[in-house]
Amino acid sequence: MIHSTITFTMIASMPRVLFLVALTLAMATATAAARSRQIHLRFYMHDITGGPGQTAVQLVKGPGPAHPFMPGAHFGDTTVIDDALTEGPSAASRAAGRAQGSYMLAGLKEPVLMVSMTVALTGGPYNGSTIAVVGRDDISAAVRELAVAGGTGAFRKATGHVLWRTARMESRDHMVLQLDVYATVPAAVAAPGDGQREAGVLNI
Ligand SMILES: *[C@@H]1O[C@H](CO)[C@@H](O)[C@H](O)[C@H]1NC(C)=O
Repeated sequence: MIHSTITFTMIASMPRVLFLVALTLAMATATAAARSRQIHLRFYMHDITGGPGQTAVQLVKGPGPAHPFMPGAHFGDTTVIDDALTEGPSAASRAAGRAQGSYMLAGLKEPVLMVSMTVALTGGPYNGSTIAVVGRDDISAAVRELAVAGGTGAFRKATGHVLWRTARMESRDHMVLQLDVYATVPAAVAAPGDGQREAGVLNI
């Protein structure tokens, strides 16, 4: 109440032209919000660090120091991944894409990975589009939040976040992660497959 009274008083005392500028800005912001699209995707990532079907391979054995809470792990350990993404938690469920990139043990004392990967979608309405995901994965937290740093195709100019949970362990070497992607993309971004048309317009 107090807040709105103050706002009202401020507006009332504003020179008319400033009020119009403020109104125009507010309308422009509302229009920009209406011109964006929210996309929520959920899929499961299979990180298989050994055995048959391995998709995650350690590239760098960190020179140390040894991690205080993660037996056998060293600061700087770096793994390259090409993990399968599926629509359900089972590896046998329908394929959704691949998560290609790396994670590095970047916590000296905390169990924290720095993740940097591209989600390449291979099915559904976003087949052919990619999402760039980067961020801090504190594996001791139930839910981790990483950033959507951009994308291609339907995810061009995407912003947003990814909620990242450990769904289950299939075996010592096979961890299943649940990823919920919340992305905002400008509504003007062309759907995948519109690339040719856009190129044609540019060539005129
Ligand atoms: C995804 O797109 C590729 C390339 O256009 C195509 O070959 C493939 O069949 C598509 N996959 C699905 C599941 O639609």
